[in-house]
Amino acid sequence: MLYSEKVMDHFRNPRNVGEIPDADGIGEVGNAKCGDIMKMYLKIDNGIITDVKFETFGCGSAIATSSMATELIKGKPLDEALTLTNQAVVEALDGLPAYKLHCSVLAEEAVKAAIKDYYDKNNIPYNPADFCDHDCEHCGTEH
Ligand code: FES
Repeated sequence: MLYSEKVMDHFRNPRNVGEIPDADGIGEVGNAKCGDIMKMYLKIDNGIITDVKFETFGCGSAIATSSMATELIKGKPLDEALTLTNQAVVEALDGLPAYKLHCSVLAEEAVKAAIKDYYDKNNIPYNPADFCDHDCEHCGTEH
């Protein structure tokens, strides 16, 4: 079977779909490969992600990975959420077909963008390298 049961479950019953109107951080990212977009909303209290929701016009794999990503970061401190990688999300879903791996990047990037938005809005200093998309031309840091 192409997709794991966990992927199918999160695709059919995605967790945390929707919008948080008074979100503390919002991240919107587009997938360079397919043009799909993803919006991630975070509620943050004392450095902890107390609530998270997402909206996507992405494919089924993007929905499943975002759903899993929201479950993995809910209730977690920001610095822990920042270390979430798309590989970890894919592993938690028992894998994705190789040609669908790019879809999982959308979730990771949207989480990071939403945390960055929160830091920016609250003038909280951060290390730009934490938000590097590994395309170091744009991240402006040397590492
Ligand atoms: Fe675009 Fe999956 S094909 S996110």
